[in-house]
Order: sequence, then C-alpha cells, then structure tokens
Amino acid sequence: MEASQPIGIFDSGTGGLTVAKAVSNLLPNEQIVYFGDTAHLPYGDKSTATIQAYAIKITDILLQQNCKVILIACNSASAAAYDLIKEYAGSKAKVINVIDPAVEHIIATNGMKKVGLIGTLQTVNSGAFDRKLKGKVREFGSLATPLLVPMIEEGFVRNSISRDVIDKYLSDETLKGIDSLILGCTHYPIIKDEISQYYDGSVDIIDSAETVALSLKNYLEESNLMNLSTPNRNRFLVSDITKGFENAANLFFGEEIKLEKYPLWE
Ligand code: DGL
Repeated sequence: MEASQPIGIFDSGTGGLTVAKAVSNLLPNEQIVYFGDTAHLPYGDKSTATIQAYAIKITDILLQQNCKVILIACNSASAAAYDLIKEYAGSKAKVINVIDPAVEHIIATNGMKKVGLIGTLQTVNSGAFDRKLKGKVREFGSLATPLLVPMIEEGFVRNSISRDVIDKYLSDETLKGIDSLILGCTHYPIIKDEISQYYDGSVDIIDSAETVALSLKNYLEESNLMNLSTPNRNRFLVSDITKGFENAANLFFGEEIKLEKYPLWE
C-alpha cells in the first residue's frame, strides 16, 4: 500500500457523508472516494445476507479504485458485513468499521457505567455492540429508532416534530439512567445537538463519525500511510441519482458536492 492511494468510504446512501466530512476535516490531505448505495437504501431494515451481498460488490468497486483503506461508514453494514469484507479485501486494503472505535472510546473513557445505543433495527438486533461491550460496562441498553432516519431525510430537524420523536425514543425505559449514548447511525450527528439538549448536557454523546475518523488517523500515522502530497479531488459515487439524493448529500456533507452515478451492477 502507498500513502498516495485514496480512502474508500461507503454507506447505504448519503448519510455516511457525515463520516466522510469528519474524515475530511481531520485528514484534509487524504483523497476520499465515497460510495453511497442510494439504489438500495435503507440498509437498516434489510437482512444480513442482502447487506453482505451489496457490501462485497461495493468493496470490489473501492478496490478497483485502488483504495488503501475501506471505511464502512454505515453502522448497519458494519454490523452485518465487517468480517466478510475484511476477509474479502485481504491484504489489498485495511478495513475499518464504524462500531469498534466507538466501543474502544467507551471502554477507554467510561469504565463501568451504563451505556445506551440508538441505531437501526439491523444494528440493534445484530447485537454487535452488546457483544463487544459485554463485561466492559456496568449495564447496556439499546433501542432501535427507525423513525429517525426518514425524519432527518425529510428535513424534520430542530422543530417540534423532531423534539417530540426524540423525546419519545429517549424516554424509553431501556435508556433510563445512562451515562453515555452511542449514536449508532450515520444520520444522527445531524440531530446531535437536539439529543444533547434532551439530556441537558448530562450524558456523554458519542458521535461515531468522529471516533472512526480519529481511529483512521491513528492507523495512517502508525502505518506511515498519511498522504503528504497534494491529494487528488474527492469523488462521490452513488448507485442511483435524483435531486433528493443531491440535496441530502449537501446536508450530510455540510457543503455542496457533486455526485457521480456509478451503478452497482451494469
Ligand atoms: N447508514 C445506515 C446506518 O448507519 C442508516 C440508513 C440506512 O438504514 O440505510 O445504519
């Protein structure tokens, strides 16, 4: 592997651009090749086998793009397909998922406290976080919050609707008395402030986009793979394109970007 190779980042759609943004902020010298599987989203309510099939195809595309790292920005795909992708990529690229850095952060900073998780049905039902945190925290409670993704995509943020939905979910018994809350979904950084407000700042909110960006930086430093030359321009590939996806992409990346259509299967 060489430092000048790009970082591949993939997600079920444009939500993973919150992760791409965190990476671009922290590592401005890296070229990003992003792949959003907009033709097949959402992944959050799909079966493990279906997500694995899409994830392998996307990994193939990112390897063809010569990526040195494949970062699975999607929590649902990280839960369903990380081991498989790691095996598939072999020594061609380092594979990083979005779950492990959040778990490591919790273990390093929170010790034996009560930790909560919110995410899609796939992420929560997979038990991926539970297994990794078992015995490392005092208590763990997870809640699938499937309404949050469409709510955010519809632009219902910072208003009475988002407040009501967030209140309803976060007041669930499962999350009572938590000290930390993992935002286990690409979309949730957009409502991080509202979630923080719900807890009045008394709960540590773990933004997995930020923790995975930091983990990537550490890996590149340790492996001498930091790009020190001027990077090529970032590319944003999507398997389907509409005006709606373009608008969502700008929202999640926080600035205007150009999407390129790249079908998963020709
Ligand atoms: N990217 C997904 C995740 O982080 C959320 C959207 C979806 O369900 O596809 O779990």
